[in-house]
Amino acid sequence: MRHFLSLIDLTTEELTYLLEEAARLKADAQRGIRPPLLAGRVLGMIFEKPSLRTRASFEAAMAHLGGASIFLSASDGPIGQRESVADFARTLNHYVDAVVLRTYRHATIEEFASYATVPVINGLSDLCHPCQVLGDLLTIQEHFEDGIRGKTLVFVGDGNNVARSLALGCGKLGARFVLAAPEGYRFDAAFEQTFRRVCSKGELIQNGVPSHAVGQADIIYTDVWTSMGQEAESELRRAKFASFQVNAQLLAQAPPQVRVMHCLPAHRGEEITSDVLDGPRSIVFEQAGNRLHAQKALLKWLMLGTNHA
Ligand code: CP
Ligand code: NVA
Repeated sequence: MRHFLSLIDLTTEELTYLLEEAARLKADAQRGIRPPLLAGRVLGMIFEKPSLRTRASFEAAMAHLGGASIFLSASDGPIGQRESVADFARTLNHYVDAVVLRTYRHATIEEFASYATVPVINGLSDLCHPCQVLGDLLTIQEHFEDGIRGKTLVFVGDGNNVARSLALGCGKLGARFVLAAPEGYRFDAAFEQTFRRVCSKGELIQNGVPSHAVGQADIIYTDVWTSMGQEAESELRRAKFASFQVNAQLLAQAPPQVRVMHCLPAHRGEEITSDVLDGPRSIVFEQAGNRLHAQKALLKWLMLGTNHA
């Protein structure tokens, strides 16, 4: 049995398989074909933080595949407060066929997975957001006829959970990842070491000046400056990131065909301006839509393996 806690755990071949499967499922869904491959299966979802895309796309994915889902928001506080993480996992094991967890601490997901007898999926932790990146890579593959290999993705903003997963996804598929972030908000040495260990074909560059970084960009990606759980730092972060906004001036420094991505939700007027988010270079809503297809592939793989049509 496999879990999906981080892109670190996935080989390039497995990632490629998931993206191909996602593209197949998307093409089928667009022709109205939704085979009930997970009929009778139940997905449990436990979220300590708010969500639109992750929750709705997982629920829709289970419905498309003929299964059901149970949503448990942690309104009683963090997972592990009302009862231990171990007891939570050992109870849920009896009711569901897979679990999606969205947490503050990544260690909570790891602890839950250590007691789970069903696949556990990371639906975002403070450390990483691997499901987001499956949808993002599918979107990039669709936009470049010759694929993602050799492309340059410039992430402008905070070296956060989304940025870490994206760097690993790009690295595993042979794309160059450039992080343009202020000092103190870049990847740490431990992450750089992990990247080098698991992405032997990848290139990771950290660069403080967005206008320099975007000169060779095929994709400019950004995310909020203040992630969920960091609200107390939002004023400080607005000051630190003031020159890291994705706006028309920055786009003017990039190649004219550059695509703009954002995992959403966006703080319009902070990390990205509305004219860019809603403009012709933006592919953010296709990107959001692809969460559904990518996660259908993930659910099918985790619950059925690869030997199912
Ligand atoms: N991008 C993303 O994960 O969105 P939600 O927080 O709405 O799930
Ligand atoms: N970095 C953001 C991503 C939201 C999908 C956060 O963690 O809040």
